[in-house]
This record gives sequence, structure tokens and C-alpha cells, in this order.
Amino acid sequence: MSQRKLRVGMVGGGGPANFFGAPHRRGILMDNSAELTAGALRSKPEESIAAARELFMPRGYPDWPTMIREESALPESDRIDYITIVTPNDAHFGPAEAAASAGIGVLCEKPLTTTLDEARRLHATVRSNETPFVVAYTYTGLPMVMLARELVRNGEIGEIRKVEAWYPQGWLATKLEADNQKQAAWRVDPSKAGGSGCGGDIGTHAYEFVRFVAGLSATRLRARLRTFVPGRALDDDFTVLAELNNGAIATVSASQVTIGAQNDNGFRVIGTTGTLEWSMTDHLVLKRYAGGQPVQLYRQGAEYGYFPGSIKPYLRLPSGHPEGFHEALANLHRTLEWTIRGRRGESVPKPFEHPGIADGVAGMAFIEAAVASSQRDGEWVEVPRIG
Ligand SMILES: NC(=O)c1ccc[n+]([C@@H]2O[C@H](COP(=O)([O-])OP(=O)(O)OC[C@H]3O[C@@H](n4cnc5c(N)ncnc54)[C@H](O)[C@@H]3O)[C@@H](O)[C@H]2O)c1
Repeated sequence: MSQRKLRVGMVGGGGPANFFGAPHRRGILMDNSAELTAGALRSKPEESIAAARELFMPRGYPDWPTMIREESALPESDRIDYITIVTPNDAHFGPAEAAASAGIGVLCEKPLTTTLDEARRLHATVRSNETPFVVAYTYTGLPMVMLARELVRNGEIGEIRKVEAWYPQGWLATKLEADNQKQAAWRVDPSKAGGSGCGGDIGTHAYEFVRFVAGLSATRLRARLRTFVPGRALDDDFTVLAELNNGAIATVSASQVTIGAQNDNGFRVIGTTGTLEWSMTDHLVLKRYAGGQPVQLYRQGAEYGYFPGSIKPYLRLPSGHPEGFHEALANLHRTLEWTIRGRRGESVPKPFEHPGIADGVAGMAFIEAAVASSQRDGEWVEVPRIG
């Protein structure tokens, strides 16, 4: 069969007040190698169909079960290749499980699900169906974060002793949900967000730096989750001290009440021969410190010899033309696309090892352990192992 654009179905992400559907759509369309074919974009059937029409999607569905059922009944030459799930957290598991069971690929938003139990069940389905699966830890799609991972893997900073990962925001420092602000309303509702508010929403991004960049995972942790805004049922501040599987230590902190912080997430990975440091506020630069040496600045640009071949296919512009958040999302879609195409025998670059289902499950294990520890006044709690 000749190569063609991949067909993508979107779940969630519709309506005028929606946030994260649009960045995904831009990411999907960025390279003209995929198209938005189908959508179940809102929770109400008639609004879902109207939203698909407004976004010029050829096939609008009333809900995701109908979309998965009808798409999987189509001939392969017409059906969607993967779905992108951009719903509140409680509506990740259902469509992901249905798509995986139907042989359709999945790019799912984080946190993977609302409970570890759901995450494990989804893991089993994805494994048995060999579903192409990417979890949208967006920052792992940024080339400098990818470079940090490669440098650590190449032993450039020696053995890891410590990881510091952070993600402060300030937008929930007041009770925004009282004004029914859409994104705030579900994020502070345990039935929609899961067992942790701030931790699930952005603590998972910070923890993924530990896994993706340092290549390590938490074995046990102590946590202090706080709810600073009165009347809120979930944490709006999340602080964790963790031990890692190589004996290293990590601090993972996230906050939604850090007034002034603008998605200032980042990490410091500290090894026996050097330290790597990166921050979203200066995301085109990766800093490397080595004892007694001037600080080294890696800058983003495919023409620089230090960019490994594994990352170059993910850069689109010469250095100095900033590529950022949308390109990072596009890179995660690119990894899923190349995985799907590669399995079909098409000639594509080797996909980067972006976060998959196991990383989504690990995020949920970390969150559940943190909630349990905090409820026990910061006792050490084992982080469940991912099978
Ligand atoms: N990776 C990132 O950097 C990042 C950034 C922002 C949000 N997110 C994640 O994206 C997801 C959505 O967040 P948001 O801020 O866009 O929320 P939002 O409230 O702005 O949008 C949610 C959308 O889902 C739709 N929806 C709800 N239930 C549905 C259902 N059952 N079927 C179909 N559509 C349904 C709503 O109509 C709405 O269009 C969350 O999981 C969030 O954690 C990730």
C-alpha cells in the first residue's frame, strides 16, 4: 500500500472554552503527515457532533464508544489509525481501553487514569494488543530534554546521586473554581481528577523528568500534600522526597499556588562527575556543570554536532528559530506516527523512546504512594512496582 496521511480521531478537546484540544490539533497537523478525520469532542452528543463540524472534521460522533465502534467496523483503508485523548482525567481510561482493544493506537493525556488499578488494567490491554501508545508528558518532546536523557545515558555526568524536579504554577492560588472556571472546576473535583489534584496534574510531569531524563524510578517516598485554598477537596501543593532504584534521592515538587510562576518546570540531575540543569523558562538551553570547569551551555540546533542522530529528525528549523511547546507536542505525535508506520513496514526514522504506557502507570503509582504517605503524616511508603 502506498504511504498516506495517518488518520487521527480526537476524544475531548471541543468547544469554545476548551484548553488543550487546540495545541494537540496544531501538533498533529504540523508536519502535514496526519489529518484530523474523526472526533467525539464533548461529553454531550449534540455538542460533540457540532464541535466536529466547527473544526471541519469529516466524521463527527456523538460519543467515543460510537466512534471506536464505527471506526473499527470500517475497512483498514478508511479507518482512523490512532486516537488522541484530551478529556478530563476520568475519561481517559474508557476510550484508551476501547481503542487498544480495537487495534487502534493511542496518544493519551496525563495523568494516565484516575487510579492505579485502572492504569494497570489498561497496561494489560495495551500489552496484549501491542498497541502503539504514547503518554502526553509534553516536556519530554522538547529537544533539550531529549538531549539531557541521551547525555545521562551516555554516562556524561557519571552515576546519578540526586534528581531535583519541579513544576510550580500560580493560577489556583485563589478559588477560581467558585467562578466555575472550566479547567479549574474539574481539576479540583476528585471524581474527575483522581486522588491528587496538583500532584496528578503537574507533579506527574515533574516525576517524569526523574524517569525520562535520569532513567530512574522511585522505590519509596515521603510526601506532604497541602490544600491551601479553603474548601478545596484536593491538594493544590505537592512535595515529595523519594528514594530511587539506584540508591539516589529525588525531590519532586509541584504547586498551583506559587503566585507568579508560569509553568516554570525543570530539573537538575546531579551525577558523580557533573550536573545537568534545564528549565522551561529558558528551554532552548541545557546547562552542564563539571567540577572546576566553566559552565557548558548546549543550545538547540540540529547543525550542532552534539545532537545525536536519535534527536535530529525531531528538529524542524535551524538554530535561532525557536521551536517550543507546540513542536514538543508534535514530536510526541511524530513518535506515535513513526511507530505505527514502522510496524507497517514503511521507511521512517527510528522513533525516540518517548513515554509509553509503563510511564503512565508509573506516574499513577507515584501519585497513589504520595497520597498514602501524606495521609499518614509523611510516613515512608513503598511505590508499587510496575509489572
Ligand atoms: N500535557 C500537557 O501539557 C497538558 C496540558 C493541559 C492539559 N492536559 C491534560 O489534558 C486533559 C484535558 O485538559 P483541559 O485543560 O484541556 O480540559 P478542558 O476542561 O479545557 O477540556 C476538556 C474537554 O473534554 C471534553 N469532554 C469531557 N468529557 C468528555 C467525554 N466523556 N467525551 C468526549 N469529550 C469529553 C469537554 O467537553 C472539553 O472539550 C487533561 O487530562 C489534562 O490533564 C495536559
